[in-house]
Amino acid sequence: MAGERRLFSPLRINRAVFKNRIMMTPLYLGYANPDGTVSSLLLDHYREMAASGAAAIVVEHTGVDPSGLGSPYMLRIDDARFIPGLSNLARAIQAEGALAFLQLNHTGRYAYTPERLAPSPVKTGDVVPQKMTQKDIEQVVRAFAAGAGRAREAGFDGVEIHGGTGYLIVQFLSPRTNHRTDQYGGTLQNRMRFPLEVVDAVLKEAGQDYPVGYRFLADEWLPDGLHPEETAVYARELENRRVAYLSVMAGTYDAFVLPEYQQREKEEAYMAHFASEIKKAVSGTPVVTAGRIQSPETAERILQESAADLIGLARVLLADPLWPQKAQGIVPGPIVACEPACSLCMRRTMKGKPAFCSQWDKERREAFLKRVGESA
Ligand SMILES: Cc1cc2nc3c(=O)[nH]c(=O)nc-3n(C[C@H](O)[C@H](O)[C@H](O)COP(=O)(O)O)c2cc1C
Repeated sequence: MAGERRLFSPLRINRAVFKNRIMMTPLYLGYANPDGTVSSLLLDHYREMAASGAAAIVVEHTGVDPSGLGSPYMLRIDDARFIPGLSNLARAIQAEGALAFLQLNHTGRYAYTPERLAPSPVKTGDVVPQKMTQKDIEQVVRAFAAGAGRAREAGFDGVEIHGGTGYLIVQFLSPRTNHRTDQYGGTLQNRMRFPLEVVDAVLKEAGQDYPVGYRFLADEWLPDGLHPEETAVYARELENRRVAYLSVMAGTYDAFVLPEYQQREKEEAYMAHFASEIKKAVSGTPVVTAGRIQSPETAERILQESAADLIGLARVLLADPLWPQKAQGIVPGPIVACEPACSLCMRRTMKGKPAFCSQWDKERREAFLKRVGESA
């Protein structure tokens, strides 16, 4: 209906009720303890994100298996000993009135550990990863499922499978990184096999009505990479399996360094056209779009045009944790925008340092640096 603000209308997905259309999409900032457990810095950060007024917080990518950790500071869920800390995290988010989702990941050829598993031995920097055997594949599928079970036990309202950014699931889907000649490589049907085995195992473990979302790579943003002709087919496979939502993104680490990507990435709502394309390919699965959605007007337009059903904020929410409340008029004042020419948060995490935002005021930046033991 014209004039009605969709951004603040509720949405039910399985048993999860989203109080509005704002979801924090996962944002790894390097705040976990160096053993992958929940730190007080991480807890305070998510408390603030959850207090923003967003309907749901999807906690950053969390390792389902020791072989798939991207950094020592990546959260882990590969053992029952991680459950108590994660339980505190879920409760902290929920106490602020947001749904708590947790993203499950295996980084594959981007793991920081010496043992790097991948569909094929495609060089990553100077390292040639190990081609996964059938046994490795089965073990990682089980690890994703076990991670979902632990997340549920820890009290999360749902999980999200990380099928974006060029991590293991994408490494199987993409013909650039999957050169296998067995049933896991070659045709799209074969390249989808491992990702769908993961999805099936997670859905089975999660049980009926427990939301299992999916971070969905619509396009690798590389000439020889995955494009919507193939990913739309995959999206329909995910829809047939009843994933809770598709959180659409584009680009992988191989694309992030290219000038074309860096140019496009500075534009407002730079991935919304991919979300729209995937939304058209499926018939009803809710679609999330993120990517520099700086203004509530842009968010509203995306929803009104039915390009997506939920608005994802990551860096944008870090730059202004009051974005949702300002958008709703609960808190006065202009929204502090994420600076397109900055990328400080990404650069800090790449250096293994806890990230902060250049848009925070001086006092906040100094307090943060003091807390993490760096002089301001
Ligand atoms: C430093 C950094 C860490 C990120 N970590 C994750 C992650 O753990 N999982 C994921 O799916 N996406 C991750 N993303 C992607 C974001 O969820 C989001 O899609 C992207 O940043 C665009 O939204 P934004 O402009 O609001 O930040 C990350 C992005 C950045 C910059």
